[in-house]
Amino acid sequence: MRSIAEHDLGTPPPAETGRVAPPHATQVTLAIDGREVTVPEGTSVMRAAALAGVAIPKLCATDQLQAFGSCRLCLVQVEGRKGFPASCTTPVAAGMKVCTQNDELARLRRGVMELYISDHPLDCLTCPANGHCELQDMAGAVGLREVRYGYQGANHLDAPRDASNPYFTFDASKCIVCSRCVRACDEQQGTLALTISGRGFASAVAASQADTFLDSECVSCGACVQACPTATLSEKSLIQKGQAEHSVVTTCAYCGVGCSFRAEMRGEDVVRMVPDADGMANHGHSCVKGRFAIGYASHPDRITTPMVRGSTSEPWREVGWDEAIAYAAGELRRIQARHGRDSIGAITSSRCTNEEVYVMQKLVRAGFGNNNVDTCARVCHSPTGYGLKETLGESAGTQAFDSVMASDVIVVIGANPTDAHPVFASQMKRRLRQGAKLVVVDPRRIDLVRTPHVQATHHLQLRPGTNVALANSLAHVVVTEGLVREAFVRERCEPAAFAAWRAFVADARNSPEAMEQVTGVPAAEVRGAARLYATAGNAAIYYGLGVTEHSQGSTMVMAIANLAMATGNIGREGVGVNPLRGQNNVQGSCDMGSFPHEFPGYRHVSDAATRALFERHWQVPLLAEPGLRIPNMFEEALEGGFKGLYVQGEDIAQSDPDTQHVVAALQAMECVIVQDLFLNETAKHAHVFLPGSSFLEKDGTFTNAERRISRVRRVMQPRAGLADWEVTQRLARALGMAMDYHHPAEIMDEIAMLTPTFSGVSYDALDRLGSIQWPCNASHPGGTPTMHVDAFVRGKGRFLVTEYVPTSERVNARFPLILTTGRILSQYNVGAQTRRTGNVAWHGEDRLEIHPHDAGERGVAEGDWVGVHSRSGETVLRAHLTTRVQAGVVYTTFHFPESGANVITTENSDWATNCPEYKVTAVQVVRVTEPSAWQRRHAQLDRQQRDLLPAGATRVPRP
Ligand code: SF4
Ligand code: SF4
Ligand code: SF4
Ligand code: FES
Repeated sequence: MRSIAEHDLGTPPPAETGRVAPPHATQVTLAIDGREVTVPEGTSVMRAAALAGVAIPKLCATDQLQAFGSCRLCLVQVEGRKGFPASCTTPVAAGMKVCTQNDELARLRRGVMELYISDHPLDCLTCPANGHCELQDMAGAVGLREVRYGYQGANHLDAPRDASNPYFTFDASKCIVCSRCVRACDEQQGTLALTISGRGFASAVAASQADTFLDSECVSCGACVQACPTATLSEKSLIQKGQAEHSVVTTCAYCGVGCSFRAEMRGEDVVRMVPDADGMANHGHSCVKGRFAIGYASHPDRITTPMVRGSTSEPWREVGWDEAIAYAAGELRRIQARHGRDSIGAITSSRCTNEEVYVMQKLVRAGFGNNNVDTCARVCHSPTGYGLKETLGESAGTQAFDSVMASDVIVVIGANPTDAHPVFASQMKRRLRQGAKLVVVDPRRIDLVRTPHVQATHHLQLRPGTNVALANSLAHVVVTEGLVREAFVRERCEPAAFAAWRAFVADARNSPEAMEQVTGVPAAEVRGAARLYATAGNAAIYYGLGVTEHSQGSTMVMAIANLAMATGNIGREGVGVNPLRGQNNVQGSCDMGSFPHEFPGYRHVSDAATRALFERHWQVPLLAEPGLRIPNMFEEALEGGFKGLYVQGEDIAQSDPDTQHVVAALQAMECVIVQDLFLNETAKHAHVFLPGSSFLEKDGTFTNAERRISRVRRVMQPRAGLADWEVTQRLARALGMAMDYHHPAEIMDEIAMLTPTFSGVSYDALDRLGSIQWPCNASHPGGTPTMHVDAFVRGKGRFLVTEYVPTSERVNARFPLILTTGRILSQYNVGAQTRRTGNVAWHGEDRLEIHPHDAGERGVAEGDWVGVHSRSGETVLRAHLTTRVQAGVVYTTFHFPESGANVITTENSDWATNCPEYKVTAVQVVRVTEPSAWQRRHAQLDRQQRDLLPAGATRVPRP
């Protein structure tokens, strides 16, 4: 006889009640153990029982997945029916009488459990799942205390353990083959990396073709780990640290999906991040970054003591906060006294909270006395703000993520959701597997074009830089084939603007046939895609930086809005214009007034009434003229008029285009203040270093791509003693400003008071509602999932003529290829965070994707070092030969500073917003044997700057 241990109390997972009820209107009433319950038709007996307060034992069922009916633990008896049906797969029926507890059922369940346990190691007290193991719980629930069978005979106790994944282990000896992991990978994640191989006793979970998890198609989203009812799939951090003692709900600090997580804690140590089933952006799902890649927050590279130095060739001097702040304030005032009011400025961070961004722009406008504030959104989604404001009247996406579940056609333009917005991509793939059609517009064959059970109907593989030409030819088909939703346009849009646009796109020069020469996309494909989009019923456009980061980025955003208005695809569920925001708080940093021409809520600084409102509240006069954008700051610095910069959480020396130009501008300044977690590339040219705090160390809010404001909650004390907003506040005070917030909630109260679209937002409301999609005010107290429902925010929708103007960045004999850039799932932006996590197991360097034809012409083989030259500079990367890119196009990611991807990008930018044209750079590629001159200089600078750090400033040995 072997005994089963009772578990200790850990952090309880959220209660699960079996398969969630389908959204049927018809209600049926039944009796469960004599209790009457009324539920929607189609509900499972298990869920109906849960709603009646009756818990039925279960193992293979879970809220998140379709019922499977394999474990046979949830057996019930139904009056008038034979046998013992599984309650998880049996739908309710009117008048049904269900019995969930009697001696016979108890005997059967104990028998089932005994068989499971007889082939299971009974090491509960040392098992990582002890405390949240459903097998253990169910053994208790069915009253199984002892198992009659020993370990004689065939069993799985010696089955192998796979620890290849950096974050979780697979211990086959504990597997009960319930298939929850397989279903999670299929249904939730949509990767279909797992199967149950073999039959009967030999059945076992297999990753891909019986690979290790690391070598398989697994993308490490963690859904299977979450679904596993035993310790078979367990987080390594849980195994190492033990059960959590408490948990705090917070928001992921990586991408613009804004997933909600429970940070499970032991004291100040994060045991694991568990996706929150109540999270309205992620519904309990996650990706490898938010779920696992948080190790950077405790990485020894972090600098946690303020530092100052007189020049960038001097050693850094560690100082206290007071001295660092006084030094920074003194320098800023000195520079202004000598070079004028406008000689300093600041850059806010889309990784920081709304409250931190708000305080930064307030510091600049009210403390510096100018409007020289800009944000890293300048280099990604500034055209979205401009283009959507001009056409629809609001600088934000129109839908909630859940809206995609009502789409019949999904158009993805210049975005790579499976890599850059993975949790939303999983939801999108779910809708596509249900039958929605997909159109992909991308020069590269992104994963979405063909993934398990998903195949794009059209992949319009255009030449980089020809978006507007393609959009115009799509519009041409709409207007010339009678596909305009005339009634919608008549009622909702400006007639004269529409007439001008209609005449423009109808012109033969915009036909797919005429544009084929420009875009490289066969006209028939364009016609097919346009018809599909215009006649779908509900068609939604999702787009990313492949739209905005062009010389015509703003024009393309307007072209997308034109298409949506013309086809009536706006103002309801399932449709809309949806920018997929790159960083966690890009939307928020724009909302909070980070642009030099706008106060919070996108109100122009020249608007007298808005200015008067802020002047009254801030008690200072404010300027009516816009300040400098980031590129203008660099230009002014090189011309000698801009001398001081405060950069919070943004590594401009790596992320901005034409690195050598950026560095020259930084070197021309007299005081560069960097606030960051690490000695980033920009900090190597800085004079003051203010240690930043990670999202785990502060309170605040982030706003995701669907305008959803979610709480960020402090789970540990700031490593450097202060949260970022507190540092900015100290600097403001040192400059003589009155700023006296005691908690970010007070900052949000001020934002709400001064910003009509936020007037209903408060921490109380966020705690009550979970999250809020702005606008949130008296007319929308619960927020606004869908915008422009009855009318556009600007009143009538405005069509704008979008003439295609080719970029000046053209291929020629010297630079015959086009380089375009993008992201990869496991890394994030400049990589400062993800490079300091186990994610390097998947992507440890940036490579140059090149078509085999182009590689062959240059004698380049897989893995060769290649020099990539543009008119801006040169770098060296390793080549990866692939047909993902078309001939004539090369592609790379930009996650590693030493790759120097932005050494080659040019200073070309969007005509309206100066968003850099990252996506089009004419280059030549040649085989080389050594790093570029820039890379050698970069390596030397890196060594020098690390040597200038005080001993012990980071806990990483110097190279
Ligand atoms: S690994 Fe876990 S979820 Fe998957 S079959 Fe085994 S016990 Fe079930
Ligand atoms: S981690 Fe995600 S992708 Fe990998 S096997 Fe599990 S569910 Fe599938
Ligand atoms: S999808 Fe984005 S927000 Fe969600 S866990 Fe991944 S990185 Fe974080
Ligand atoms: S929970 Fe119903 S059969 Fe497993």
